[in-house]
Amino acid sequence: MNNTENPKEDKEEKGLLLDHDFDGIQELDNAIPRWFMYLFVITIFICVFYVFHYHFFKQGPNQDEEYAMEMAAAAAADSSRANPVEMIVLNDPASLEAGKKLFQDKLCYSCHGNSGEGNVIGPNLTDVYWIHGGKFEDILKLITSGVPQKGMAPFGDQLSEKAIHQVASFVLSLQGSNPPNARDPQGEKAE
Ligand code: HEC
Repeated sequence: MNNTENPKEDKEEKGLLLDHDFDGIQELDNAIPRWFMYLFVITIFICVFYVFHYHFFKQGPNQDEEYAMEMAAAAAADSSRANPVEMIVLNDPASLEAGKKLFQDKLCYSCHGNSGEGNVIGPNLTDVYWIHGGKFEDILKLITSGVPQKGMAPFGDQLSEKAIHQVASFVLSLQGSNPPNARDPQGEKAE
């Protein structure tokens, strides 16, 4: 049985035919094409270069080191996001005006009084006494997370980071404003 049409090719193949016979499928002992051999030899050189470069002389980062480097870079990028440069209190009139507006719009005044003087629900925000700390950071955190067990909702999901900065800056700007009917101090005196 032979389906090769060219009798010359057929004869050539005879000489190359190996003894193997797998269910009627036979194997030709062809020479490997030259380009393929060269490719193979090149890979051997690359292996040698690779082993020396990465393992013996340690001139390049290996996979584990590359992974560690990328993770470190990602962590650095992340912490610069989590720790924004604007931990600084905003004191320009536009930001304070925006903060004041938020204090009204978000109904902060309903629990803290129109001037932040406090009422039966919320504490006085104009004195130097703080239940949760009087540093800017503390106030940002408090507005973000609220005090749900005391009735203050978290604002982190309603306000942007910028808006929280504005309203917190406005709260701090009330320090020492001495509004009438101020609620008695609560908490610790800020340093
Ligand atoms: C529903 C009432 C309510 C609303 C609305 C409310 N708060 Fe409060 N807030 C409270 C209460 C109650 C506390 C005191 C929690 C405690 O005793 O631990 C508080 C505490 C605070 C504190 C910490 C005071 C301290 O002494 O440490 C700040 C700052 C503050 N609120 C800002 C705001 C801002 C800004 C808004 C609006 C975006 C707001 N609150 C809206 C009820 C409210």
